[in-house]
Amino acid sequence: MKEIIETRKITKDFVTKSGVIKRSIRLTRALDEVDISIHEDEIFGLIGESGSGKTTLGLTLLKLLDVNSGSIKFMDEEISSFYGKRIHEFREKTQMVFQDPYSSLNPIINTYKSVVTPLKVFHKEMSKEEVIERVLVTLERVGLSPPEQFLDKFPGQLSGGQKQRVGIARAIINEPKFLVADEPVSMLDVSLRADILNILLNLRNELHTSMLFISHDIAVTQYVSDRIAVLHLGQIVELADSTLLVKNPMHPYTKTLIESVPVPDPKRRWAPEGITVKDVEYVNEGRNECSFANRCPFVMEICRKARPEFTEVERNHFVACYLYGK
Ligand SMILES: Nc1ncnc2c1ncn2[C@@H]1O[C@H](COP(=O)(O)OP(=O)(O)OP(=O)(O)O)[C@@H](O)[C@H]1O
Ligand code: SF4
Ligand SMILES: [Mg+2]
Repeated sequence: MKEIIETRKITKDFVTKSGVIKRSIRLTRALDEVDISIHEDEIFGLIGESGSGKTTLGLTLLKLLDVNSGSIKFMDEEISSFYGKRIHEFREKTQMVFQDPYSSLNPIINTYKSVVTPLKVFHKEMSKEEVIERVLVTLERVGLSPPEQFLDKFPGQLSGGQKQRVGIARAIINEPKFLVADEPVSMLDVSLRADILNILLNLRNELHTSMLFISHDIAVTQYVSDRIAVLHLGQIVELADSTLLVKNPMHPYTKTLIESVPVPDPKRRWAPEGITVKDVEYVNEGRNECSFANRCPFVMEICRKARPEFTEVERNHFVACYLYGK
């Protein structure tokens, strides 16, 4: 199977400064030696509590954020070496769908302008007729039908679900190879979610777009994803085929995620009870223990001495936990 995107040990630190008189610097390790690979035609789910680093990982894969260390390859090429024309090509082939359809569209720009802009940036050679045809096909593809009726509509004249469809249309007008969908349905009414998820599934089938699908909702993630990775404090702690992960979660943190039921309030940031984001100290060179040790009911002495290795415990099921491996 060919990889569309592959990371090796990527680390991303955020430095925040605070205080006027007594200055202090805090370093947050948002990604901690993350290894993932997403295959061509794959929808790769990423779950984890609020602050676990999901968005940061999505942004680094699209080169919208630079990493501190590690490697990211897009179709076998190192993205840190992209510049000039190559960045332009990379931007055409990769896109992002945002969580909030209300703020991701400009209220004074109509659907046609909003959707056509990325096409005009990357396909100056297209004739006017070709451009209009591509816009209509794309609107149809995201379920805005008949498309002609939506061209002149402004965001204020669209429902939440229709706005998200316009957001997806913008992202796919150039038929990207790789898409990051960052909680694309979490702000939508439950009744609209399945339609949007089916649009993403169709995109993969029709355009062969690979995706990183970010969510904190396990059921939603399982519905669309081929495999699911679990991110905890910037570390991937479990990875498996999606049905397998939900049926047989192994890592104690994954079990907590699956057992806790998120409150159905779209504005609420979600974290399972008792788990908070832990910022590392400025001098920390990376955690030399299991990242879940402070919360884990099964913690053992060894868990605090070194990080557990990511081990294949059963076919296509990897876990970083001493209960299952080294
Ligand atoms: N620009 C930034 N400056 C400083 N810290 C940041 C920045 N962006 C993210 N962080 C920190 O990095 C960590 C990971 O954040 P990130 O937004 O990637 O998490 P997330 O899993 O997407 O959370 P959510 O589910 O709330 O969207 C958090 O501790 C966050 O506070
Ligand atoms: S390695 Fe130890 S602390 Fe970490 S999840 Fe496994 S049992 Fe718990
Ligand atoms: Mg996020």
